[in-house]
Amino acid sequence: MHKRIRLGVNIDHIATVRQARGTRYPEPIQAAIEAEQAGADSITLHLREDRRHIQERDVLLIKDVLQTHMNLEMAVTPAMVQFAEQLKPHDVCLVPERREELTTEGGLNVLGNMEQIQDTCQRLTAVGTKVSLFIDPDLKQIDASAKVGSPVIEIHTGHFADAIDNKTIQQEYKKILLAVEHGVNLGLQVNAGHGLNYHNVIDIAMIPEIFELNIGHAIVSRALFTGFAAAVSEMKQLMLDAR
Ligand code: PXP
Repeated sequence: MHKRIRLGVNIDHIATVRQARGTRYPEPIQAAIEAEQAGADSITLHLREDRRHIQERDVLLIKDVLQTHMNLEMAVTPAMVQFAEQLKPHDVCLVPERREELTTEGGLNVLGNMEQIQDTCQRLTAVGTKVSLFIDPDLKQIDASAKVGSPVIEIHTGHFADAIDNKTIQQEYKKILLAVEHGVNLGLQVNAGHGLNYHNVIDIAMIPEIFELNIGHAIVSRALFTGFAAAVSEMKQLMLDAR
């Protein structure tokens, strides 16, 4: 049971806006600093293979200025593992990646790639990085995550977030509850994220065993109208109030 839930703010879409026009603004570093000042507990960014939003320069500069810590999302590729070994971020979250997807669409298939993921966990752990695996709320994937030696899992809440009818929402929520319980019983730190917004976050944040939520799109979207700091602190307050 964690009394104080943590918020990781994903700033990818600040970079998405910049890349859309090839300008020097908006600046992801500014978003990272404002998010921290508004109550973010960590800053998450995804260096994708196609470099559609975050660039290497963002990762390097932000690593240098953060007062909390960086959670680097990345695919399990030789180039990214090498990059992370040199960077040594506080946290790495391993995610599946497909060039044609709009966003990360499903969890990592840990069960089907045990050797490669175990090797990656060992290499990153050796440089002092805490590894998390982004997985669907699937008990077999959680077992596999514990077996490969990852201390943390991030439960994919996207299917819950996307569900429209009450029955599906309840079914997806139950899967998340069972997954959190299973992960905690195996001694894992359990985070969650994807698709969380100002409406659905309360149900997830109220699950007492969840350590941290990673949230991006909804916060960046809200920031257009309220400013980034207000968008972050409103999200953080909703999460804290849910406990
Ligand atoms: N967690 C992971 C592993 C992700 O890949 C993403 C999206 O980049 C998020 C959380 C945040 O999702 P959203 O932008 O929908 O809040």
